[in-house]
Amino acid sequence: MTANVTQLKSQNSATLTDNSSNKRIDFPMLEGSVGPKVIDIRKLYAETGHFTYDPGFTSTASCESKITYIDGDEGVLLYRGYPIEELAEHSDFSEVCYLLLKGELPSASEKRKFEHDITVHTMVHEQLTRFYQGFRRDAHPMAVLCGVVGALSAFYHDSLDISDARQRMIASHRLIAKLPTIAAMAYKYSVGQPFMYPRNDLNYAENFLYMTFGVPCEEYKVNKTVARALDKLFMLHADHEQNASTSTVRLAGSSGANPFACIAAGIATLWGPAHGGANEAVLQMLQEIGSKDRIPEFIRKVKAKEEGVRLMGFGHRVYKNYDPRAKVIQKSCHEVLGELGVKDEPLLEIAMELERIALQDDYFVQRKLYPNVDFYSGIIYKAMGFPTAMFTALFAVARTVGWIAQWNEMIEDPAQKIGRPRQLYTGHGRRAYVPLHRRG
Ligand code: CMC
Repeated sequence: MTANVTQLKSQNSATLTDNSSNKRIDFPMLEGSVGPKVIDIRKLYAETGHFTYDPGFTSTASCESKITYIDGDEGVLLYRGYPIEELAEHSDFSEVCYLLLKGELPSASEKRKFEHDITVHTMVHEQLTRFYQGFRRDAHPMAVLCGVVGALSAFYHDSLDISDARQRMIASHRLIAKLPTIAAMAYKYSVGQPFMYPRNDLNYAENFLYMTFGVPCEEYKVNKTVARALDKLFMLHADHEQNASTSTVRLAGSSGANPFACIAAGIATLWGPAHGGANEAVLQMLQEIGSKDRIPEFIRKVKAKEEGVRLMGFGHRVYKNYDPRAKVIQKSCHEVLGELGVKDEPLLEIAMELERIALQDDYFVQRKLYPNVDFYSGIIYKAMGFPTAMFTALFAVARTVGWIAQWNEMIEDPAQKIGRPRQLYTGHGRRAYVPLHRRG
C-alpha cells in the first residue's frame, strides 16, 4: 500500500491519495505568521489507519509556538520577532529573559521588578550544597547539573503544581536564577574552592563570573568587558525553537512532570556533542589539530568520513546558511581577545583558517555546512578563563530561559496533549514461546 501527498488542492488544504484504495482525503493547511505552511495531519490515523514516518523530525512541526522563529535558508533568528543581531547589540540578558518568557520587551519598571524577582531566588537551599560532596571531584559539570537541577524538585514543593500559573512563574524564576549558582558551584567543587554565595547587587553575567572566579579571601573585581561579552553570549544562546533539548523539555512536560524534572531532561539532551556539547568538542578538535599546517589532513579525514571525525561547530539541521549567532560571536571573539590582551590566540587562528578552507571546499559547500553557534564560542570562554568542561554548562545556564518559556507555552496551549509518537515496527510478528531446553 502506498500513499502520496499528490497535490496541494488549494492554498488551504492538501489532498492525500491512498493508491491502494483510491481514497482521497483532504487535510487542512495551516499558516503561521511567517515561514512555511504546515499540513495538519492530526486526523490521518483515524481516517486512513496509517502513520507518518519521519525519524529525526526533519519534516514535522511538533507544536505551535510564538516564541522563536528561524529562517534557516536566510540565516535569520528572531526572538518574539526581534532579530538576534539587534538584541545582541542593544539589549541585555535580563531583558531577553523577560521577552522570551512574557512576549514583549519590558518597560523600565517591569525590568526592575523582573530583575528583583530573579535575584531573590539566586541562592539555593543550603542542604542542596551537600549534594555536591556525593560527586567525584572530576565529575563533568553537566553530570552535576543533571543531578542537582533534577533534585530541585525535592526542595521547592511550593512551585510544583503545574496547573497554578503563579507556581509555574515562581518555578521559572527559580530556574533562571539558580542555574548560574548551581553551575558555578559545580566549577568550585571541581577545583576544591569554597562555594561563593550569589551577590544580588551584580547583574546576571557579573554575578556568575563572581561566583565562578571569586574567592572569599580576596575582593573580586568584575571585568566589565568580560561580563558584557558573557551577557551577549547568554542572549545568543537563550532560545532556538524546537531543537533536541527544547523538544525533550516539552515532551517531558507533556506528561505533567514538574518543571525542575523537565529542565533536568533538557540539560541531559543538551550535553550531547551533536547539540550543546559541540562547543566543548570544537575546542578539543582545535587543540588536536594543533597548528594550521595540519588542517588539510584533518579536512581530508572529515571528508573521508573517518569514524568519529566531523568538523565540529559546523552544520545545522535548520541553518543552510551562516548561523547568525556565529557571525555575532566571531566579531565578539576578536573584541574580547583584544580587550583581554590575548594576542595571536593560536586556536582562533586555526579556527579562522578552518572556516576559510571549509567554506571554499565542495564537500561543505554542497552540503551547505556553515559555522554554527558553537564554532567560536569556546575560544571566548577559554579566554575568559573557563575550563573546557564548563562550556556546555554555560550553554545550559543561558538556555534555561528558553526551555522554561517553551514549557510554559506548552502548558498554556489548549491543544496540548501528552507527546506519544508511534513507530514503524520491523521486529518479529507474534511467535510462540520456546522453552529453554528446546532452544538450540
Ligand atoms: N562535518 C562533516 N560533515 C558533516 C557535518 C560536519 N560537521 N555536518 C553534517 N555533515 C554531513 C553529513 O555527513 C551528511 O553528509 P552525506 O549527505 O554525505 O551523508 C550531510 O552533511 C548532512 O548531515 P546530517 O548529519 O544528515 O545533518 P543533520 O541535520 O542531521 O545534523 C548536525 C546536523 C548539527 C547534528 C550536524 O551538522 C553535526 O553533527 N555537526 C557537528 C556538531 C555540531 O557542531 N553541533 C552543534 C549544532 S548547533 C548548536 C546546537 O544545536 O546546540
